[in-house]
Amino acid sequence: MTEAFVSLATTDDYARGANVLGKSLKRSGTTRKSVIMITKNLSSHTKEELAKNWDEMIDITELNSHDKERLAVLERPELGCTFTKLRAWTLTQFKKCVFLDADTMVLQNVDDLFDREELSAAPDVGWPDCFNSGVFVFKPSQDTYVKLLEFAKKVGSFDGGDQGLLNDFFGDWATKGSSHRLPFVYNMVANITYSYTPAFMRYGQNVKIVHFLGAVKPWHHYFDDSTGKVKKLTSGGLAASDVFAKMWWDMFKATGDSYKDSQSGQTGPASWQNWDQARVVYTDRRERWEKGTPDYTGEDRFDNILSHMKSMMITTTDTTAATTTSTTTPPATTTTGISTTSATTTTTSATTTTTSATTTTISATTTTSAVKETKE
Ligand code: UDP
Ligand code: GLC
Ligand code: MN
Repeated sequence: MTEAFVSLATTDDYARGANVLGKSLKRSGTTRKSVIMITKNLSSHTKEELAKNWDEMIDITELNSHDKERLAVLERPELGCTFTKLRAWTLTQFKKCVFLDADTMVLQNVDDLFDREELSAAPDVGWPDCFNSGVFVFKPSQDTYVKLLEFAKKVGSFDGGDQGLLNDFFGDWATKGSSHRLPFVYNMVANITYSYTPAFMRYGQNVKIVHFLGAVKPWHHYFDDSTGKVKKLTSGGLAASDVFAKMWWDMFKATGDSYKDSQSGQTGPASWQNWDQARVVYTDRRERWEKGTPDYTGEDRFDNILSHMKSMMITTTDTTAATTTSTTTPPATTTTGISTTSATTTTTSATTTTTSATTTTISATTTTSAVKETKE
């Protein structure tokens, strides 16, 4: 039995994120399989793209909490379908898995996550005694899956999505010990209004996984092919979030094998190479700090390095909102505007497996618990 990275896309929209995640995993030089769970409503074009970027596609049926009340409190009415994540526990062909939200992006190899046990995750930035369910280590098990569904029917989720449910189900996470608590660099949230820029400047070079948490995702911004610039719909978050948005788009546009790498992570779009270089430069200079010859106010400040990176990657700092028309129709895929990528497209065909033929609606609101299961 092997180990795998697992993600989920129930819509063409989220599949955009999954494509970038799949490419970033390959670039990280992972030795593990990459597996994407998909639902039947994805377009055939979307499936073709996913097949290029993931080792395996697995058809699953959506699960939805339909918990309007709690999702309204979370202010994310669209997240009822995140109960579909629970299906990941049915992937018992794998011994251990790491789940990654489709809105995450891997910057450095994270295969060491497979040394962790279920359930390992990083603290949520909104409530750090809860874990964020955008990145977690788990062990597929039919028994756990059944228990999770039972729990969903009886108790429900306090946020209407998977995170509330999983935090109650794995309720001892916060006290279980540090091996279950992933460092924040494995799930670094870049684009929310609360952020901690000084800490990013101190530790940012260690970031392994970026999570674009929130309703506005990088693919909702507008990317101008002629200039290679990102026009963001919203501002806020870390100073570096523009850099990550640009890296997301450059990887989205990358075609062929140019983003793939065996180990070093020194390939791919220019913005990704720049990021690696800035990290290395910063790490070297930090040694200088530690030897007692720091230049905290001068060139050794990580924010200076960041500004330099930004100037290399984003030619202007234009973050004005894009027009509605351009943002509603981001190009699905294109080969234009990339100088660092090859024009060849390699198609790795993914195995598609159907694991479930059951449609399940789970509803456990504050007042009622109702379950509807329909055999297809
Ligand atoms: N997701 C999906 N379809 C949806 C909503 C969510 O496939 O309509 C999946 C996707 O993998 C996504 C995850 O569920 O990354 C969690 O949703 P999201 O990342 O938007 O939540 P956030 O991290 O912003 O709270
Ligand atoms: C969180 C997580 C996300 C989850 C959502 C709903 O913010 O980032 O992965 O799906 O809450 O519970
Ligand atoms: Mn997410």
